[in-house]
Amino acid sequence: SGAHTVVAIDGPAGSGKSSVSRAAARELGFDYQDSGAAYRALAWYVLDAGIDTEDADAVIAALDGFPYTIGIDPDDYFVRVGDTDVTEAIREPRITAVVSHIARVPAVRVRMVELFRSVIAASIRPGIVTEGRDITTVVSPQAQVRILLTASEEARMARRSAEITGQSASDVGKQLSSRDAQDSKVVDFMNAADGVHTVDSTHLDFDQTVSAVVDLVRSTVE
Ligand code: CDP
Ligand code: CDP
Repeated sequence: SGAHTVVAIDGPAGSGKSSVSRAAARELGFDYQDSGAAYRALAWYVLDAGIDTEDADAVIAALDGFPYTIGIDPDDYFVRVGDTDVTEAIREPRITAVVSHIARVPAVRVRMVELFRSVIAASIRPGIVTEGRDITTVVSPQAQVRILLTASEEARMARRSAEITGQSASDVGKQLSSRDAQDSKVVDFMNAADGVHTVDSTHLDFDQTVSAVVDLVRSTVE
């Protein structure tokens, strides 16, 4: 059909959401939206302005001027705050450590949901893959394809530790579990909502996980 296809993917940290969604989007000729990047970029912006990330009112006030831009072409991914390219900086441990503080503020989430929906509406490719924590449930509950991407805690920690240098595997593991625990209080991304397909990547390699997602999209849409 000629309709714009919306693919929503949620899951915990290290399940493979970002890398798998981007590769699936590339294979499908779709756009790719990393929603976590917006929360991370806001954390970067708030820290840069010298605002305490635990001061919810100050964070809400900062939202008004938040100059956020994201690249949604899977082959040209970038994240910018004003003129500053923060694509790499938002992955730093100092951001990961505080991002949940701002993501738990309801007024921040409301604004982010609007932002994610406006990016989906502006997509001019045949479809868009958006990934995060509340995409299948809050941002796009009407998406044609909704997927919960999971993996065992052990697999997720091993994948994350392999990416991060300068921090011990046990530190990375502790931070990942405490962030998931905090994030889970705000939105449920550990259980699939009604109509959401679960893809468990524990025993799948990267290419197999991408294929599982692409096959689900093709079987739903074609
Ligand atoms: O890639 P990783 O799983 O480490 O995290 P991310 O997707 O970059 O998201 C960073 C943080 O943003 C999460 O820990 C959540 O606090 C928040 N987030 C959210 O609350 N809702 C989303 N849809 C996406 C991210
Ligand atoms: O976005 P999220 O935190 O869910 O995960 P990610 O950053 O996309 O993936 C974490 C790492 O796991 C990446 O280096 C992926 O290549 C890897 N991965 C894997 O080894 N096997 C899979 N089946 C899926 C992802």
